[in-house]
Amino acid sequence: MSTTTPASGARHVTVPSVRARKGRTPLVCLTAYSYPIAKLLDPICDVILVGDSLGMVVHGLPTTVGVTLEQMILHGQAVRRGVSEALLVVDLPFGSYEAGPQQAFHTAERVMRETGCSAVKLEGGATMHETVAFLTARGIPVMGHVGLRPQSVNAMGGYKIAGRRKAEWADIEADAHAVAQAGAFSIVLEGVAEPLAAKITASTPVPTIGIGASSMCDGQILVIDDLVGLTQQPPKFAKRYADLDSTITAAANAYADDVRSRQFPSPAHVFSVKD
Ligand code: KIV
Repeated sequence: MSTTTPASGARHVTVPSVRARKGRTPLVCLTAYSYPIAKLLDPICDVILVGDSLGMVVHGLPTTVGVTLEQMILHGQAVRRGVSEALLVVDLPFGSYEAGPQQAFHTAERVMRETGCSAVKLEGGATMHETVAFLTARGIPVMGHVGLRPQSVNAMGGYKIAGRRKAEWADIEADAHAVAQAGAFSIVLEGVAEPLAAKITASTPVPTIGIGASSMCDGQILVIDDLVGLTQQPPKFAKRYADLDSTITAAANAYADDVRSRQFPSPAHVFSVKD
């Protein structure tokens, strides 16, 4: 694995080591929003993303548009405490960077300083070229995000898969190239038709990280709640690897039965008097 190893011998994924994974063993990336989940994922993942998807999966918002900078920072700080090996990336939320490079710099600088993350992610292609170049020139590593951009759900009129029509391909490919050329160290391709994802991956010098963009990408990312079965209506591209919803329901029901029948707390869970 292309990571650097500090004196302690622990694995330590860095921005350059992620960039160097282009065309090699696929990058394993997941979102995390809390300390205990981050601790579990840290030894497994190359990249842990505090995605603004937290607005929907943790806070029950209808879209990511309402997510605030303060929410991102709070969850970023919690996740940071559980991450010591993987590369930690935090999303810039809607409205916190689109006005221009200066706004993006102030937001990204605050996110990095207050969370201790190693990089930020922002959505957008050609229109974000100047902003990505401004940030990367000033020591802020940027992960791009093109194709389906959830923060633009209102402008797009829904969550539309990108590149189903060949007429759309040139613009989406140009978006990826613009972000890479501006200095992004990797690019999320979300909801991109497989042949286009393959074409972009082949023509882009930095790793592409797919979500709903096929195995042709240089890595994959999923929302952790989709992976473990905690979301009600996961997208088609999400694979469920566990059924934590039924595990939690069964545990809560068993607890409720024990409480109602006074079987919990049992003698093992109570304190006696020492005399
Ligand atoms: O917000 C998020 O979780 C994301 C990933 C799905 C890429 O942007």
